[in-house]
Amino acid sequence: MDLPDRLADETALEELLSRPAPAVVDVFRRLRGDLAVLGSAGKMGTSLVTMACRARDAAGSPAKVFSVSRFGDVSVRRRHEAAGAETVACDLLAEDAVDRLPPAAHVVYMAGLKFGTSERPDLTWAANTVAPIQASRAYRDAAIVAFSTGCVYDFVPVGSGGSVETDALEPRGEYANAAVARERLFEYASRERGTPVVLLRLNYALEPRYGVLVDLAQRIAAGQPIDLSTGHFNGIWQGDANAAALRLLEQAASPPLAINVTGTQTLAVRDVATRLAERMNTSVAFTGEPAPAALLANAAQATALLGAPDTPIERVIDWVADWIARGGRTLGKPTHFEVRDGRY
Ligand SMILES: NC(=O)c1ccc[n+]([C@@H]2O[C@H](COP(=O)([O-])OP(=O)(O)OC[C@H]3O[C@@H](n4cnc5c(N)ncnc54)[C@H](OP(=O)(O)O)[C@@H]3O)[C@@H](O)[C@H]2O)c1
Repeated sequence: MDLPDRLADETALEELLSRPAPAVVDVFRRLRGDLAVLGSAGKMGTSLVTMACRARDAAGSPAKVFSVSRFGDVSVRRRHEAAGAETVACDLLAEDAVDRLPPAAHVVYMAGLKFGTSERPDLTWAANTVAPIQASRAYRDAAIVAFSTGCVYDFVPVGSGGSVETDALEPRGEYANAAVARERLFEYASRERGTPVVLLRLNYALEPRYGVLVDLAQRIAAGQPIDLSTGHFNGIWQGDANAAALRLLEQAASPPLAINVTGTQTLAVRDVATRLAERMNTSVAFTGEPAPAALLANAAQATALLGAPDTPIERVIDWVADWIARGGRTLGKPTHFEVRDGRY
């Protein structure tokens, strides 16, 4: 891909985030039937829905792309329609609404609830269990790529290369355990009904308005020291994560394929923050020492299946540094990636 040196504004950013790689267009040349994206109005949904529409159009496919969410923010709904999707307002927790969803041969399931777990754990469990039960029932004959998270694993030693897909799912905290339940319910649907499923375990989608790099760059810009206790992480350009999700529609299987989707490197917070600060023409101070274990995932299976992510992490770091140094808009949602007790 022809990558720019900097992202001039949100229009340029969103164009890049939703630009379909040739492999994604090829998927839409082969797919037969419509696609429904459930829980599409979140941080990643607009770029995924737009990428799907662009890939469909480039492939000359007649497939419909249904974008399904509650759409509390109506401007998001308008953007999905402008991209060429048919939007459906639906609360996936409402049984009768799920029964009226349009049929589709393919589903990308993105709904989830992470933050606020400490105050309303009941909501977190309902969002991550009741909704998957209903969605997997409504789309029992579809191929489903269900977003999950690298948080389903426990911490591993920093030098280990990260958790692999066969590792035990014994994480810390209620959100992560609800995410395990989300996976297990899709797995149950797959094993009981034969629904082909991919469980996509994502570790930290990165873009200039949200993500671990934004958290670090904002602290650097504010002159705050970076705590190194959670000293390592994995990350992937959000566009590459969305491309992986769409390409994995062709890998759906029963029993499900579980797959880590993240960058190929274990990133050290010290190195990343140092590069960010250099690019921001400022300095950075550190406190603490990196813990010997961290939440890390091994991307070898995804790399073997799909190739390495297209966007080099160094380029993503430079884009974020430039964006934050210029005072670019952010979502104002910290990732809490440094949390070590599972309480997000
Ligand atoms: N972003 C990351 O770095 C990251 C990392 C690891 C895993 N993931 C996983 O990837 C998925 C997508 O990420 P994201 O960052 O886009 O998540 P997100 O911002 O939390 O978006 C999920 C969306 O799901 C929708 N939703 C939630 N409950 C719903 C319900 N009952 N009915 C209908 N829609 C509902 C919400 O939109 P409405 O309010 O419009 O309904 C919400 O915005 C998530 O499931 C998350 O677990 C993301």
